[in-house]
Amino acid sequence: MRVITGIQPSGTLHIGNYFGAIKQMLELQDSSDLFIFIADYHALTSLKDAEALKKNTIDAAITYLALGIDPEKSTLWVQSDVKEVLELYWILSAYTPMGLLERAHSYKDKVAKGISPNHALFSYPVLMAADILLYDAEIVPVGKDQIQHVEITRDIALKFNNEKGDIFTLPKFKIDENLQTVPGTDGAKMSKSYGNTIDLFTTQKQLKKQVGKIVTESVPLEAPKEYEHCNVYNLCKLFLDEEGQKALQERYKKGGEGHGHFKMYLQELIWDHFAEARERRAYYLEHQDEVLEILDTGAKKARKIASEKMRIVRDVAGIYR
Ligand code: ADP
Ligand code: TRP
Repeated sequence: MRVITGIQPSGTLHIGNYFGAIKQMLELQDSSDLFIFIADYHALTSLKDAEALKKNTIDAAITYLALGIDPEKSTLWVQSDVKEVLELYWILSAYTPMGLLERAHSYKDKVAKGISPNHALFSYPVLMAADILLYDAEIVPVGKDQIQHVEITRDIALKFNNEKGDIFTLPKFKIDENLQTVPGTDGAKMSKSYGNTIDLFTTQKQLKKQVGKIVTESVPLEAPKEYEHCNVYNLCKLFLDEEGQKALQERYKKGGEGHGHFKMYLQELIWDHFAEARERRAYYLEHQDEVLEILDTGAKKARKIASEKMRIVRDVAGIYR
């Protein structure tokens, strides 16, 4: 079963991204034919600094390889390495009713947040449809905010298929019901736009600073503490099995330790959990030629599928060769 996912090269990742998205990808690569690409054309809708975009693109590849995306199991490439996607984007645009895009929440939300409303931002769902349909992906794992984009993809594919025959596979979105929202240091959803993140790859000093910012209730050291609504506990929980969670609950109930101790424990959990990934990341940062080679291999595989598909699409659309 082919599963596709696009990741925006948007810089520093936090533990909310890890538990909310990346962990799911790592599980999927063992059970499916995972296609994963770095969506640099998409990022262009909001990032105009050329050097930053190039750097973020390679950085994203390094980060995902470090976290365990295995190029032997999955196909990893950069979106712009397969130009066919832009050709399909244009052809699909001709089959996309304006109303479909005018109803997209994501565009309205972004404009409301102050991103300047350029045409690429508006037509973004058509490019996303091209990403998915070009490779005949069956499943698209997404967060809730992206469901509508997969539905738009289906609508476009259906319209094209109705007019031109059974050309595109209709994709389905997949939401992981077990995923929880990871709280940030202030207890709200962890997000880079809220400045409440704990980053995946950072120095021990910076990690200490970020964990130190977590808001906790103020209770005397000796007193038993409430764990269920404690932000520190809820973050620790992500790293612990049932037994570990029970043990930590006991420490809260017993009293005698302050939130400072629990924060120190959280810091250790995070540091240890990503130790291997940190090493792999350091390795790839030193060996970027290997990263480029992996991306080349991925792009070659993706391009082969894309060019076969485009031959069919061009033909039925009337593009003469
Ligand atoms: P941010 O909110 O920091 O900008 P993105 O919107 O780039 O994060 O999200 C990238 C992926 O990480 C999405 O799949 C999203 O659902 C997931 N994600 C982001 N923050 C969280 C969080 N706090 N808890 C769970 N998942 C999250
Ligand atoms: N729009 C997605 C996001 O913002 C990224 C993306 C682009 C994508 N193309 C895709 C995701 C195709 C899945 C499939 O997160």
